[in-house]
Amino acid sequence: MLEELRKIPKAELHIHIEGSLEPELLFSIAERNKIELPYKSIDEVRQLYQFHNLQSFLDIYYQATNVLKLKKDFYELTYSYLERVHRDGVCHVEIFFDPQSHTSRGVLFSDVIEGIHEALEQGKKDFNISYFIIMSFLRHLSEEDALEILEQSLPYKHLIKAVGLDSSEQGNPPSKFKTVFSKCKDLGFLTVAHAGEEGPPEYIWEALNLLNVSRIDHGVRSIEDKKLIEQIIENKIPLTVCPLSNIKLKVYEDLKQHHIKELFDLGVRVTINSDDPAYFGGYILENYIQCKNSLGFTFKDLCKISKYSIEASFLSQVEKDRLL
Ligand code: ADE
Ligand code: ZN
Repeated sequence: MLEELRKIPKAELHIHIEGSLEPELLFSIAERNKIELPYKSIDEVRQLYQFHNLQSFLDIYYQATNVLKLKKDFYELTYSYLERVHRDGVCHVEIFFDPQSHTSRGVLFSDVIEGIHEALEQGKKDFNISYFIIMSFLRHLSEEDALEILEQSLPYKHLIKAVGLDSSEQGNPPSKFKTVFSKCKDLGFLTVAHAGEEGPPEYIWEALNLLNVSRIDHGVRSIEDKKLIEQIIENKIPLTVCPLSNIKLKVYEDLKQHHIKELFDLGVRVTINSDDPAYFGGYILENYIQCKNSLGFTFKDLCKISKYSIEASFLSQVEKDRLL
């Protein structure tokens, strides 16, 4: 079964590239960049990866991100991720990156995006994995900050397919970013947003109605609002669900309580993704496996979910048909 699950062609649509920074790579890049880490060993770092909510994770995630300084760091980070998910049967990725967490430390936007892009091009050649890049705005910062990074990104617009919204959700509703998202739409970017991970269903409504998103990242709290679920089903809005992330960040105490199966059974186009695999105990295939083991998904269900992932991607219909 494991081998069969591995072989299903899957698209990963919810992966923060900074969240794929494994402790081993964290240490080697830190050493190369002469950055002293507040931890002594890889084991000590792994011990720290016990979170009680999203914020407790983000604090550690942003701290680790500080080791990434040069184009080659971003290249290595991205290439390592592709090498890893190639083994999980991934044929297409749409990766988030958080430019503000780098430019605020003096890292050049060009080094971030060129490092990521060159690794994705190499990964396409070496592993036959197609890709898109999604630039994510940090929602704990202001809309002015988002507008500023958008301006900085424009020379690289041809490399960016869509924009997203991530970081601390509670208290930072999608409505805060209405103007910048509208500008992005006018510029031709597609839009997605994290909503309903910790935040209420109202944030999902806002992402749909005010930010005109094509997909909702997470969206698990949609289960609390019947009208919202009806809308999501009717408009075929995909949810990029990250089951192991939701357990690690205590959205659910146990995978058995997760709503992904219920949403799937209702007809919601759910996809399975890893979010920040270096921190949450598993890459995409592990998320598929644990969903099967804890929630009673059949092999056929998981094939349908992987099909949803390709259909929900930003590939053209011709490219989707090639993968399906
Ligand atoms: N940034 C990285 N991972 C995230 C998550 N799970 N939610 C919001 N922002 C994030
Ligand atoms: Zn995420």
